[in-house]
Amino acid sequence: MAQPRILILGAPGAGKGTQSAKITEEFDVDHITTGDALRGNKDMDISDMDTEYDTPREYMDRGELVPDAVVNAIVEEALSQADGFVLDGYPRNLEQAEELEGMTDLDLALMLDVGEEELVDRLTGRRVCSECGTNYHVEYDQPEEEGVCDECGGELIQRDDDTEETVRERLEVYHENTEPVIEHYEEQGDLERVDGERAPDEVWEDVKATIEDAA
Ligand code: AP5
Repeated sequence: MAQPRILILGAPGAGKGTQSAKITEEFDVDHITTGDALRGNKDMDISDMDTEYDTPREYMDRGELVPDAVVNAIVEEALSQADGFVLDGYPRNLEQAEELEGMTDLDLALMLDVGEEELVDRLTGRRVCSECGTNYHVEYDQPEEEGVCDECGGELIQRDDDTEETVRERLEVYHENTEPVIEHYEEQGDLERVDGERAPDEVWEDVKATIEDAA
């Protein structure tokens, strides 16, 4: 498959960003991630879209979903510029899934399965580089020098939404809004599941093989 169109699904902390980085490199596709796109525009004024809050930040810091109109526009624009892609963080509810069906076809929907307590542990322990976005973990994936990114020397920080309270809220939102999306793809027979609760390289072996099988 020259330019696959892949959807990666999973709960917060399932490893979507980690595996997407590997997919991007191996299969030469764009990484379209609504989370990163929104973090880059956290203080954008969205008040003219008839939203409850005035900026994405106010939704994200509470662990709530940013309104569909904002996110749909981001994804539509990114998809219009990509031949192959891995789409990470979208769709997060059935309305977004319906919107996506009007935007593009998919070659594969891939689900990373990880248990709840492991998710909480991964997210509350995650540290990210403030410069290049590389992920670390305080126990499982430490940098050579504490607090400093191995890749670029940037400062490692905790994401505002990685506190335990907000992580629990994000998981609630996931169960309520995003699990029906998973069921939707499963009912269509379009979903491939991978056990995401193993070391990143073991998960990657299965992810890579699943994409190659879909070719
Ligand atoms: P977003 O940034 O998409 O966050 P998320 O879905 O909650 O996912 P994460 O980035 O937290 O986790 P991940 O699955 O990518 O895991 P990662 O690889 O980083 O969204 C943030 C917010 O934006 C939302 O809450 C919402 O407000 C808004 N938003 C985004 N999209 C939206 C949409 N479509 N509609 C509305 N609102 C939207 O890994 C996590 C940690 O685990 C890291 O420390 C990593 O090193 C470690 N790790 C990864 N894999 C493994 C492994 N196999 N073993 C051990 N550790 C591992």
